[in-house]
Amino acid sequence: MVSVAERILELKKEKNAVILAHNYTSPEVQDVADYVGDSLGLSIAASNTDADIIIFCGVSFMGETAKILSPEKTVLMPEPDAHCAMAAMCTGKELKEFRESNPDYAIVGYVNSTAESKMEMDICCTSSNAVRVLESLRGRNVLFVPDMNLGAYAASETGINVRLWRGFCSIHHFITPARVRQLKEKHPGAFIMAHPECRIEVLELADHIGSTESMISAARTSDRKEFIVLTEIGMKHRLEKENPGKTFLFLEHAVCTTMKMIMLDSILDSLANGTGEIVLPENVIAGARGPVLKMIDLS
Ligand code: 13P
Ligand code: SF4
Repeated sequence: MVSVAERILELKKEKNAVILAHNYTSPEVQDVADYVGDSLGLSIAASNTDADIIIFCGVSFMGETAKILSPEKTVLMPEPDAHCAMAAMCTGKELKEFRESNPDYAIVGYVNSTAESKMEMDICCTSSNAVRVLESLRGRNVLFVPDMNLGAYAASETGINVRLWRGFCSIHHFITPARVRQLKEKHPGAFIMAHPECRIEVLELADHIGSTESMISAARTSDRKEFIVLTEIGMKHRLEKENPGKTFLFLEHAVCTTMKMIMLDSILDSLANGTGEIVLPENVIAGARGPVLKMIDLS
């Protein structure tokens, strides 16, 4: 009998579809994907593909970004209700009001935001290029939204003073320095990698700070055998697969439940029946495209 994974691979070819998956998705989802990566890598893959259909396995802002970059393509999200809670912490309406009352401010927006918010931004960024993006605005007054931790990290790396929105990712923000120290005491030789969505006191304990994809590279090139990984647990799959003989330790609460909504059955349904299509109004695509393209240009 043909398995769900095999049927997905057959249908993908038949329909000239590409499957893109974020590093936090479940192992079985990553294993049927053509490309697995971080938000920036996925945005670039979405804009470069010549497939007719993009099946986006990630949270909704990622699928929306793919649609903004490739409006002529069909973008399907197997779980359209998989939302990033942080993206909801800053609305387009709030940003519009901020812009109107603070016309001298440039707004830098983490890509973990809604398409309507992106329309109000000057430039977007991801965890892998936030420092470079902020550097490009040296001399301006800057508001960074929605993630206060990524904003604080980029500010500390550049020495640029930024106004921070009060958003955060609960998976990363609730990783405490005490928990990290406790783990390090048990594994004193471990190399600590942290996502910049963690608070600054946690980042100060890390040997490497960067996007999910940068952690994959750091683990590959390091000659250490043990790693403490301060991000979401979905990363374990690639890290272990690509680094036999190395051990990766995670904090057990670090689970992004919306990323885990995506299952093989829902991918098959999207491929077979076109379910979960991302539809954005033309004015939203047009308004959000500039800030996203600027981000890609700076990468
Ligand atoms: P990356 O772009 O580093 O993969 O991060 C995305 C994300 O949502 C982190 O929580
Ligand atoms: Fe959003 Fe946090 Fe999940 Fe990343 S881990 S998608 S920031 S809720």
